[in-house]
Amino acid sequence: MERVRIGLVGLGTVGASFYELLTANADEIGRRLGVAIEVPVVAVRDPSRPRRVGPGTRVVGGPREILDDPTLPVVVELVGGTGVAYEVVREALGRGKHVITANKALLAAHGEELFALARSKGVELLFEASVCGGIPIVKVLRESLLGNRIDRILGIVNGTSNFILTRMSEEGLGYAEALAEAQAKGFAEADPAMDVSGADAAQKISLLASLAFGTWVDWRAVLCEGITAVTPRDIAFARSAGYVFKPVAAASRVEGRPLVTVYPAMVPVGHPLATVRGEFNGVMVDSDFLGSSVYQGRGAGGRPTASSLASDLGDLARILAAGPAAYPRVPAFERRELFPAERLRCRCCFHFVTANRPGIWALVTGTLADNGINIESVHQKWEDRTLPSDLFVLVDEAEEGQLRRALSQVIASPGISAESRYFRILDGEAGTGGNG
Ligand SMILES: NC(=O)c1ccc[n+]([C@@H]2O[C@H](COP(=O)([O-])OP(=O)(O)OC[C@H]3O[C@@H](n4cnc5c(N)ncnc54)[C@H](OP(=O)(O)O)[C@@H]3O)[C@@H](O)[C@H]2O)c1
Repeated sequence: MERVRIGLVGLGTVGASFYELLTANADEIGRRLGVAIEVPVVAVRDPSRPRRVGPGTRVVGGPREILDDPTLPVVVELVGGTGVAYEVVREALGRGKHVITANKALLAAHGEELFALARSKGVELLFEASVCGGIPIVKVLRESLLGNRIDRILGIVNGTSNFILTRMSEEGLGYAEALAEAQAKGFAEADPAMDVSGADAAQKISLLASLAFGTWVDWRAVLCEGITAVTPRDIAFARSAGYVFKPVAAASRVEGRPLVTVYPAMVPVGHPLATVRGEFNGVMVDSDFLGSSVYQGRGAGGRPTASSLASDLGDLARILAAGPAAYPRVPAFERRELFPAERLRCRCCFHFVTANRPGIWALVTGTLADNGINIESVHQKWEDRTLPSDLFVLVDEAEEGQLRRALSQVIASPGISAESRYFRILDGEAGTGGNG
């Protein structure tokens, strides 16, 4: 049987699981692939710590030995971050090695440059594991849907945010309680900022959008809102109206330009994404010939991520055996301006926190009308007239700019709290609407 030798850089949560997978399923992989995978060397930061590796594997400190070894045509980067990882990936590609990475932060920051470098060197930069852990969504977009025009991607791509909103919805927990539980269970980091702010999801959906549309999407340019503003009162109202809150990342093409957004959305309970619960991820893809398809599974953790790494490694083994023509080419991206987020159109639900006195409804409905926003229904219930009141207003599809303007005008009026806000509503039917 032919052999492929790989250099593994990083043996932490993901690296150790990947090594374990290659060992535990070596026979299975060899049988399916017709190629045996060997890991003669693993690089870590501290090689003095004991590691669970077999006798055929040496553990070394730092990536230098792997980069310099001409008998290792494949480097698997599992360090994380944009420092050492960037140097490792850039140098490996520059030296004509194929690279597999699980590092979405690296691709979000330097992907355009690194993909171009890979193309110029005639090597692959594979990254299935960088988005949605074990769900093979990159392969779906690159290969399975090759014959389709992709119109829209809707995803729950951050397991931490989904876990928190699920616990708030199903157990009535407050945000802080749900976050503490996520941290205790290992679903949230000690510093959860990247996850709960939406930044992690923005990086992932930007990568998926770039793949789907062939346009490089800079994640810093996307409309991005985290889940921290969602309160138990919002969740309770949403439930009564037939919706559940989900951290939704979306990418579509409007007037030929990508529109990419991340926000906590009110999702109809019958929508496929409404059933993606807890730490799970789910992605729905609308394409012209297949229609809607949904992919769901574990979006993080060592073992699911290792599963995706193995899939990339299988592709590389085939390329090494049969030549580069055996695989679709490294993506090439053109530059195009994003569709402006203030022109995003969607239905939404305003939540005004108001003083409890006559005239508030008139003020709110008048301001919405002044901004051309059509009201679907108004809901208010209070038990104590001395306390602020929650006024929920569901409105018809309007542009983001109109919604923002109306909200700031209402908030500037007496008797309205600055904590008033609005949440966007996802369309009920797959394949309809802009990003909403
Ligand atoms: N954890 C997940 O659930 C998950 C899911 C999907 C994607 N990812 C991505 O997978 C990547 C790895 O994440 P992880 O959670 O496995 O990280 P981790 O547990 O912190 O492991 C990082 C590894 O990199 C090694 N390392 C650090 N600096 C190094 C250097 N200069 N030279 C060689 N090795 C070095 C560390 O060595 P020591 O062992 O000596 O410290 C450690 O083995 C990240 O890009 C992450 O975003 C993670």
